[in-house]
Amino acid sequence: MGKKKRDQQQQQQEAAEQVLQNGGGGCSDEKKKKKKINKNDCTVSIALPGSIIDNVQSFELATRLAGQIARAATIFRIDEVVVFDNQSTSSDHPPVTADDENESGTAFLIRILKYLETPQYLRKTLFPKHNSLRFVGLLPPLDAPHHLRKHEWAPYREGVTLVQQAPSSANTLVDVGLSKNVVIDQALAPGTRVTVAMGTERQLDDKPRQIVSSSKPKEESGMYWGYKVRYAANISSVMNGCPYEGGYDYLIGTSEHGHIVKSSELELPSFRHLLIAFGGLAGLEECIEEDKNFKGKDPREVFSTYLNICPHQGSRTIRTEEALFISLQYFQEPIDRVSQNSN
Ligand SMILES: C[S@@+](CC[C@H](N)C(=O)[O-])C[C@H]1O[C@@H](n2cnc3c(N)ncnc32)[C@H](O)[C@@H]1O
Repeated sequence: MGKKKRDQQQQQQEAAEQVLQNGGGGCSDEKKKKKKINKNDCTVSIALPGSIIDNVQSFELATRLAGQIARAATIFRIDEVVVFDNQSTSSDHPPVTADDENESGTAFLIRILKYLETPQYLRKTLFPKHNSLRFVGLLPPLDAPHHLRKHEWAPYREGVTLVQQAPSSANTLVDVGLSKNVVIDQALAPGTRVTVAMGTERQLDDKPRQIVSSSKPKEESGMYWGYKVRYAANISSVMNGCPYEGGYDYLIGTSEHGHIVKSSELELPSFRHLLIAFGGLAGLEECIEEDKNFKGKDPREVFSTYLNICPHQGSRTIRTEEALFISLQYFQEPIDRVSQNSN
């Protein structure tokens, strides 16, 4: 599949998502009010630099590292993973390298995170062969709730639109990983990833089904439905490019130079969209120093709180991937306490 075609498909998918997220035709005040008090509408994002991949000695180890990040994001039900660079200008995509087969650490990490988040039965269609994917077979699967097996039935399934003609031109055939393809009530370009409402009863008839926003399973029943992956050219773009309405409302920076607070005593305010940021080899301080939008700023001014989550560390450095697991476990209780106070 050509790059142009893939970009077009991605744009279509994003446009379809946007329409669905906006309720398909604008949000009434009543709907907005309802959203505000639903804890399932709250999201947790993590941000980490793609440079952590560049410091790895081999392709296999780089793949393993990307796999660990995907596992951490899934285990801790992260909604969004932002992979950032240290570029001086902002852009929505990692810089293209002369040799597409040897991409930057950032592009590599994004590709593997997206690949692993995609249910197995969709990968062949959505991910053309690529050098960066040559060791992904070694990785443990994410086994997320939306990675459904052929015999399993669930109210929603991830699918991909097919080239094959549907019975009517207003419909599209979708492969949802079952023994039979399903029909949806919209005409969409082939190769678009969609979330299909399957109904509660196992019934594989030809009745057109609806597609919904990929956030619907979580909003409706709190089901974890995977993470989104986003590129940010620098640390300020991580915050400025927030895809959620109103932006992130609480920003946590992590560092060995941060404040020491016990997890049981950390009081997070009620939030809609929480961001937890991690640095690379030289930490978040360097990312902030090198970002012209944050000129002269201290991390404590950039983040709502700046935390050391592993005081008295025995090793001189905690690696980003290690900090990810330690921190996400540390934040579980404080986040749960906030959720319990929401509806
Ligand atoms: C190799 S460390 C960077 C070390 C750097 N001196 C710093 O500012 O922490 C990579 C990342 O792991 C996380 N990290 C390491 N030690 C941490 C600690 N004690 N508390 C919180 N995060 C830590 C931070 O996100 C850090 O940017």
